Amino acid sequence: MTTEPSPDFSTLASGFSSWTEQLWAPLAQQVVDAAGLKKNDAVLDACCGTGTSATPAAHQVGPQGKVDGVDLAEGMLDVARAAAPDLPQLSFHASDVVSFSRDYAYDAALCCFGVFFFPQMNAGAQALVNKLRPGGTLALSTWHGRPFMEITRLALAAVKREGYRAGTVNPAVMANIDAIGTPESLAAWLKGLGLRDIRVQSTAVSIEVTQNSAWQFVLGSLVAGMLPTEPAAVERVRQDFLSTLDHTHVAAEVLIATGKRRFPS
Ligand SMILES: C[S@@+](CC[C@H](N)C(=O)[O-])C[C@H]1O[C@@H](n2cnc3c(N)ncnc32)[C@H](O)[C@@H]1O
Repeated sequence: MTTEPSPDFSTLASGFSSWTEQLWAPLAQQVVDAAGLKKNDAVLDACCGTGTSATPAAHQVGPQGKVDGVDLAEGMLDVARAAAPDLPQLSFHASDVVSFSRDYAYDAALCCFGVFFFPQMNAGAQALVNKLRPGGTLALSTWHGRPFMEITRLALAAVKREGYRAGTVNPAVMANIDAIGTPESLAAWLKGLGLRDIRVQSTAVSIEVTQNSAWQFVLGSLVAGMLPTEPAAVERVRQDFLSTLDHTHVAAEVLIATGKRRFPS
């Protein structure tokens, strides 16, 4: 299996955040709601990106609580810091969340569309669980089934037709997504991490797209890392992709799951 690195989201921040309002933020809100945060909770927002879950979490825990948003990509954090309200309980940190540590245990850890980017997904997720106090909650989202919306498939096909840097989306990431891509496999995986009271819900997303927003989505997705470098070639891919985009909506299924860290026996 390839050891190709995951994409640097710093370069994707603009395209990614163009879909915040209609896609990422509503899904992040569902993860925050599922986590059942309480006033004064200490929350780790793992792979916080542009702050889609960190900000609503900070409102829920209030000024005596704490939300540590952690992401590898400075470009995503720049967007997060610019967009977030100035709240004493909310801070953002540029770090690999797997090795990120504080001298307190968390009441909850959130991870929206992040765990499958960990090169060692099981060990990375276990590290998140280990940062929880016993009884603390892990809440995450991931794709139900082969993730990418139809839009991504069409974009990949256009990249391949152009012939530049053709390849596939990082196979290790795809394998991770597949491994936890059904309610049953996700629940079993969470059980294997030592969680109890596991709940998994599937939610359907359908979003209206324009030609411009579809291309912005591509620029914020894993496919962006496979685009040619020459602007003229990128433009050919864009036009080819848009000529195949014959629908006005994109659909995806998302899994949102929670589980609680066991107490030591
Ligand atoms: C698809 S984005 C999701 C962003 C945000 N959670 C959301 O749903 O809007 C995935 C994010 O995970 C981050 N990421 C991947 N591996 C990471 C790691 N080991 N530590 C911290 N952040 C990581 C990426 O930089 C990227 O910002």
